[in-house]
Amino acid sequence: MKLADDILVTTSDPSETHMFGLTLAAHAEPGDIICLHGDLGAGKTAFVKGFAEGMGVNPDKVNSPTFTLIHEYREGSIPLFHFDAYRIKNIQEALEIGTEDYLYDDGICLIEWPDKMGSLIPKEAIHIYIEKAGPEIRTFRVTRGT
Ligand SMILES: Nc1ncnc2c1ncn2[C@@H]1O[C@H](COP(=O)(O)OP(=O)(O)O)[C@@H](O)[C@H]1O
Ligand SMILES: [Mg+2]
Repeated sequence: MKLADDILVTTSDPSETHMFGLTLAAHAEPGDIICLHGDLGAGKTAFVKGFAEGMGVNPDKVNSPTFTLIHEYREGSIPLFHFDAYRIKNIQEALEIGTEDYLYDDGICLIEWPDKMGSLIPKEAIHIYIEKAGPEIRTFRVTRGT
């Protein structure tokens, strides 16, 4: 994804977050790694559902993969790998589940709780910081840096 400047977006309900994910997906390129930062309920999965739809994946299939740590969706234009790293204990465990195979694949990785992956996240990754600014207000900052 080409990103000249940070993108700042505010959404007012879940459907707007879905639309934002869908819109950003149009700019995705093979090999993109997108890290989603934000507390429980921030809207990370809501964003991923919209993004998946934008890639041609049925968004109803997308859920927080709490027990399966990585979900693969290959029905779209580019393979999509959705991580929920919440339950990963350490980098060793992240390596054991094959994280690097996904990170260096030509698919697109969307990673919830990326801090659990620590130094495994390549420095070129895109980071999206989500903040709750009200019951249904969420702010998104998309940036190349951390
Ligand atoms: N603007 C918004 N964008 C996304 N989710 C929102 C928004 N406003 C309220 N919500 C609610 O917040 C929750 C977000 O859940 P989810 O996407 O699973 O978060 P996460 O994956 O970050 O834990 C949902 O219950 C959703 O209905
Ligand atoms: Mg989630």
